[in-house]
Amino acid sequence: MLLNSILTLLALHVAGLHAQTAVTSAPVATDNNATVLQQQPIDKPAGLPNVEWDILRIDPSARENLCQRQIAYCANNCGGPNQAPKNFCNATTMAWGCGCAHKVADFAPFLWPVVQAECSGKAQDCQMICNKDIVNPSTCAATCNAYYQCDTDKAPPSYLQTENPTDLPSYNGPKQEISTSSNENGSGGASGLQSSEATRISKHVCLMAVGLVVTIATM
Ligand SMILES: *[C@@H]1O[C@H](CO)[C@@H](O)[C@H](O)[C@H]1NC(C)=O
Ligand SMILES: *[C@@H]1O[C@H](CO)[C@@H](O)[C@H](O)[C@H]1NC(C)=O
Ligand SMILES: *[C@@H]1O[C@H](CO)[C@@H](O)[C@H](O)[C@H]1NC(C)=O
Repeated sequence: MLLNSILTLLALHVAGLHAQTAVTSAPVATDNNATVLQQQPIDKPAGLPNVEWDILRIDPSARENLCQRQIAYCANNCGGPNQAPKNFCNATTMAWGCGCAHKVADFAPFLWPVVQAECSGKAQDCQMICNKDIVNPSTCAATCNAYYQCDTDKAPPSYLQTENPTDLPSYNGPKQEISTSSNENGSGGASGLQSSEATRISKHVCLMAVGLVVTIATM
């Protein structure tokens, strides 16, 4: 009798756990259309100056203009404004997003107006730093040219794309939480998911233990 109710309880909790896992992983799969592809990260050449310029240095009216071009670019890629259920560009933060109704936005990632502007601003800042390099300005300039190959498929990735207009983007490289331990393998997201899964499972184990105690106490 006791064993029976414990087994039932266990079965219920395990079933609940499985159901929850299925529900929480579903939205990720249907969200595919909502993201524009990203450039692959590339190694920084040795001696590349530390560029701290970010896109918010562009003055507000130019950012508004840039955002309008970005939104038009998304609408164009999706096949018209009505075909772009997700299409924003926040001129305050320069966070942007584009998701088409019936396709994945597929214009080259390095050609989006905001991405181009960010790359060219950083490239110019890199050159300005090199101009002050008294030892070897031309080598310095060459490393800038090697890294900031803006408007080409070798351009460094931009991290201004976000899920929502109010999300804060990342202005200088990937967000910290992604780049902590397993960055070089590009599996930061996956291991993050695994650890949150693990916490959830351990919470369930806790719940089961409480359930057991309650069951035994009420027998
Ligand atoms: C995503 O695109 C596919 C076609 O590739 C379309 O059938 C589907 O409805 C789109 N999903 C969303 C959420 O817009
Ligand atoms: C832009 O982002 C900021 C910061 O999250 C937010 O306060 C503001 O409401 C956003 N603007 C729009 C139009 O979404
Ligand atoms: C990434 O991980 C795989 C297996 O986990 C391993 O074989 C590979 O060498 C790793 N790559 C790097 C660049 O660390």
